[in-house]
Amino acid sequence: MSKLDFKGKHVVITGGNSGLGLALATALAKDGARLTLMARNAAKLETAAADITAAHPGAVVQTQSLDVTDEAAAAKAMNAAAEAQGGIDALINNAGILREGYFQNLAAEDFRQVMEINYFGVLNATRAALPHLQKSKGRLINVASVAGLVGAFGYTPYCASKHALVGLTSCLRYELEPMGITVQLVCPAEFDSPMVDELDKSRTPENRAHVLTIPKSTMDGIVAGVMKGLTTDRYEIVPTGMARAAVKASRLAPGMLRRAGNKAIAKVYQGPAASSL
Ligand SMILES: NC(=O)c1ccc[n+]([C@@H]2O[C@H](COP(=O)([O-])OP(=O)(O)OC[C@H]3O[C@@H](n4cnc5c(N)ncnc54)[C@H](OP(=O)(O)O)[C@@H]3O)[C@@H](O)[C@H]2O)c1
Repeated sequence: MSKLDFKGKHVVITGGNSGLGLALATALAKDGARLTLMARNAAKLETAAADITAAHPGAVVQTQSLDVTDEAAAAKAMNAAAEAQGGIDALINNAGILREGYFQNLAAEDFRQVMEINYFGVLNATRAALPHLQKSKGRLINVASVAGLVGAFGYTPYCASKHALVGLTSCLRYELEPMGITVQLVCPAEFDSPMVDELDKSRTPENRAHVLTIPKSTMDGIVAGVMKGLTTDRYEIVPTGMARAAVKASRLAPGMLRRAGNKAIAKVYQGPAASSL
């Protein structure tokens, strides 16, 4: 796909009925992209499509109900989307979930669920879209997180899944770019979204203190950063300046970042024993 131009391109977005997926879909519709939104909740998909077309009359927005953990359903949904819109130019693997808590208090099932959606879900959607992306010499865009590049208190399942996704994407880059497919990795720090509203109801104080050493961004700020990155061929897109500085520090001065994290955590430390009293 040519740089800086989504006009007329067909973009499939998983998790397109909420949060970042919906906000990116709206921005892409404004740029003239044709869209297929995929997620589990069909009613929310319809509302999302209606909101986008209300904001951008004439926008082409289709929806497909899909649970990305279902490999066969993912293949069916991608083929149907390609057939309906004459191929697929880009896939944005954005669907994801979060579990936060003290390692001792989390169940094995929490780890499995997060891995199933955040890692295997991306794998399923990517495999399903690959023949279409090969044909279009299109773009694969995986939404990971800063939590895929560094660790964070309370995020054992989430960080593990996003680190796995970062590893997968890094390998896919070697394998898919020779086929003419551009691969991009999006790593935002925390931003306002329904996922974070839910997290805020129960997160550990240590997680809040540690993660928010990078202040929470607005959705508009994240979308602007992601859109700017998407319209280039840059591989790693860290959408805000503070998050980019933290990622850079983790590579150049990991001890410094760790000491800052430890200090923030120590100020509020309770640990799992306090939460189970
Ligand atoms: N918010 C943040 O601070 C933050 C920071 C860094 C990275 N991220 C990443 O950004 C992405 C979007 O997050 P968000 O904050 O916008 O969250 P969100 O508003 O909760 O949206 C998550 C989306 O994923 C979909 N989804 C979840 N499980 C699915 C499944 N099994 N199959 C298909 N779709 C599924 C949901 O739709 P249904 O429930 O209808 O399926 C929803 O559309 C995630 O990958 C997240 O990890 C978020």
